[in-house]
Amino acid sequence: MAAPRHGAFHPLTVAAVDRLTDDSVALTLRVPEELREDYRHAPGQHLTLRRTAPEGGAEVRRTYSICSPAPSADGPGPEQLRVGVRLVEGGEFSTFAHKEIAAGDVLEVMVPAGRFTLEPTTAPASGHYAAIVGGSGITPVLSIAASLLAARPDARFCLVRSDRTAASTMFLEEVADLKDRYPARFQLVTVLSREEQESGLPSGRLDEERLASLLPALLPVPEVTGWFLCGPYGLVQGAERALGGLGVARTRVHEEIFHVEDTAPTARPAGATAPATGRVTARLDGRSGTWPVQDGESLLDAVLRNRADAPYACKGGVCGTCRAFVVSGEVRMERNFALEAEETEAGFVLACQSHPVTEEVEIDFDR
Ligand code: FES
Repeated sequence: MAAPRHGAFHPLTVAAVDRLTDDSVALTLRVPEELREDYRHAPGQHLTLRRTAPEGGAEVRRTYSICSPAPSADGPGPEQLRVGVRLVEGGEFSTFAHKEIAAGDVLEVMVPAGRFTLEPTTAPASGHYAAIVGGSGITPVLSIAASLLAARPDARFCLVRSDRTAASTMFLEEVADLKDRYPARFQLVTVLSREEQESGLPSGRLDEERLASLLPALLPVPEVTGWFLCGPYGLVQGAERALGGLGVARTRVHEEIFHVEDTAPTARPAGATAPATGRVTARLDGRSGTWPVQDGESLLDAVLRNRADAPYACKGGVCGTCRAFVVSGEVRMERNFALEAEETEAGFVLACQSHPVTEEVEIDFDR
């Protein structure tokens, strides 16, 4: 069977729109039988939804994590996919999702992508995993925890989640279900930042200091096989520092950042001796081409002018959809909130954040 085309979009019908909280919904998308292998996903991956604004407006793409469990490796691909969408103030796509999308609508959906994943088949049978999430950061972790606990009867999962209030907490029922189904293997701690103790839940901010004292009381930190941190930048950074302070190796920590302050990146980092223009050779879905890169332009934009099917979603260094391997030449990345250190060391870059340093650069989107 042919591998699904990297970054390809297909029209999928919305099967249901469920309100989760006042400011979040879950969209369930139906996958037609002939596309089920294309939409086979690993727990933790995301989908990019695309909308061309009415009256010739610009195309908008947004990435949303899949919350439904992944299909088993030896069964068919998923019949349905569910994603969580939190309303962002002024957010074009999330407002559209909240106000307009209804069951029966057809959305343009990219095949699953992302490397914030845990494949249950590769996890040790009695692995002990943990996640620290904030707000909508629960979405991919819900899929990771549900898929692991279902596939590995001896595995354990500890979820530490923070939100503003109980009413604003996404997927309360789904998380409660995991607790009911796996009482001995699923551990849940909820911390609410804007609610006092009457809810019976711990309150306050889940920052580095809090985590440094909370985590050793909850679980045997040195024995945890893998950590999944997902949510706003500040929370993920605080959790990463807390784990570092507790002696957790960085290779055991996986991160996905959901919101980054929109600091405008500089066109070219100080000190870079980039040529005014360069040329990029890019391989995408088995076909290669060579095109000029204009002054200040990213490699992704240079490729997109010639190959509209180049994969991207956020163009902000966050989602990782535009990951490419540098075959030859040198590039400079402006910002990277998506690739792990091992990936950049292995030669991967984010094309949306990369500018040529050498006159000729060759990248490969297919690796
Ligand atoms: S498109 Fe999202 S990181 Fe490049």
